[in-house]
Amino acid sequence: MTDALIAPPAVEAPPASWWRNAVIYQIYPRSFADSNGDGIGDLPGITGRLPYLRDLGVDAVWLSPFYSSPQADAGYDVADYRTVDPIFGTVADASELITGAHALGLRVIVDLVPNHSSEEHEWFRKALAGGPGSPFRERYHFRTGKGDNGELPPNDWPSIFGGPAWTRVADGEWYLHLFAAEQPDFNWEHPAVRDEFKTILRFWLDLGVDGFRVDVAHGLVKEDGLPDVGSHAEWHLLGVGESPCFDRDGVHEIYRDWRRILDEYPGERIAVAEAWAPSLARVSHYVRGDELHQAFNFSYLGTAWNVHEQWQIIDESLAAMRTVGAPTTWTLSNHDVVRHTTRLMQAGEGEVAGRKPAEVDQEAGLRRARAASALMLALPGSAYVYQGEELGLPEVIDLPPEVRQDPAFHRATGQDGYRDGCRVPIPWSGTAAPYGFGPDGGGSWLPQPDSWAGLSVAAQAGVDGSTLELYRAALAVRKAHPALAGTDNLRWVPAPAGVLAFERDGAENFRCTVNMGDQPVAVGRPGELLLASGPLDGTPDNVVLPPDTTAWWSI
Ligand code: GLC
Ligand code: CA
Repeated sequence: MTDALIAPPAVEAPPASWWRNAVIYQIYPRSFADSNGDGIGDLPGITGRLPYLRDLGVDAVWLSPFYSSPQADAGYDVADYRTVDPIFGTVADASELITGAHALGLRVIVDLVPNHSSEEHEWFRKALAGGPGSPFRERYHFRTGKGDNGELPPNDWPSIFGGPAWTRVADGEWYLHLFAAEQPDFNWEHPAVRDEFKTILRFWLDLGVDGFRVDVAHGLVKEDGLPDVGSHAEWHLLGVGESPCFDRDGVHEIYRDWRRILDEYPGERIAVAEAWAPSLARVSHYVRGDELHQAFNFSYLGTAWNVHEQWQIIDESLAAMRTVGAPTTWTLSNHDVVRHTTRLMQAGEGEVAGRKPAEVDQEAGLRRARAASALMLALPGSAYVYQGEELGLPEVIDLPPEVRQDPAFHRATGQDGYRDGCRVPIPWSGTAAPYGFGPDGGGSWLPQPDSWAGLSVAAQAGVDGSTLELYRAALAVRKAHPALAGTDNLRWVPAPAGVLAFERDGAENFRCTVNMGDQPVAVGRPGELLLASGPLDGTPDNVVLPPDTTAWWSI
């Protein structure tokens, strides 16, 4: 018998926990709701809109960073981890938001950015001021350069945002930054860094947060000696192969420490890893029983819209997480990728970053996005919804260069410079910008398209067939149907060509049927129709699914 034939050790059935099948709504604070008319969304704006999220039916929100920051990377460059940036409000506002959310039955997850700080962080300022040999330099990665006069970077690592991952300071030393130069990487071998983050965790846990989204969770530990990546430079950043700066085994010790802290608090506080690892098996390491709770499933996000690949990635994702008893997660959009209304229609759609979104037929894009969302929300595990996808917002592809703020756009034109297009502020109401995003006349930090009046919350609420009502209905069924409470109960069922179908067993069974082909397909009447992502054809006894349409049934 070979190893391959030996079944993996059985993992005990996991207990029911809120996060195992939670729908978590990502709020990008600067683009959600602006309370004071400066054109930038803020914490009081979010607090004011919490009833909308309760009515939508999500279980929790995840807030992208709102900490003190010079905003070189929209807040992913943190200067002080225990204060709120004045553009977003105060710690008291954060506390009010958390209390307000809890009162409505919503949990709150905040972003934690441990891989790097801002160049304005007190430690980095001391490191620069102290010069070579300063003990604060040891908390980051300072090195002398190569070449006769140290004029070359210490190694060949590229920054994810383009250009080298090293910047030289006035005294001649270089420091490492896997992202923008304003985001120096911490040295996680230094005990002060480890201690600092434990106290940051406790600060926010004490304030009442229900968990953390861990930014660049795979990047904290670098290989000893910072060896060159050599010919792998192209792909190592995308997490498709082994790399000296990502997914090192040493990182897991940090998460075991954090898990002990999370477990000290009542109410199941969680952490979700942003970990771009080379395989789902490697991703599963981050969610072993004594580490983090969830990891984003970027393999799923990047998968093309066809039966074979969707079946394969869903099956592999469930299998990989099952080996460690963790729930699988599903995401179609976030603040770093082209919105799926636009992305899923494109050729070469397997790629996530680094592409210019092309003009797509918006009607067709929306139809496919709705089918994809209905599929995602029918899967067992936890789903992440990015603000605005419930409105069917498309990627904004024609932002003029002068309004763009993504550092990637400015560091390397044409590389991954399109993250602004998914960050355009949300349309809430009205017929002209800022569409209720803030007070009239307040504007919005990125311009909203003229075509968004029909996509606002007010324009869609209560309207039969709107994308907002589709999400509301899907989330309501998800809560009510007995089979959808399961976290690992998916069973594939045979289906006609072009159609993906699965069932989930419960006191009543549930079936999801998705037509991913380009022809209408008759699927009969598998049971009671619960929901459809778009208009159906045929008769009640022989339903015909048009292309790019998902239907839910109770059987
Ligand atoms: C993560 C964030 C992204 C940010 C980067 C650096 O990938 O999602 O927005 O630019 O980390 O912090
Ligand atoms: Ca504001």
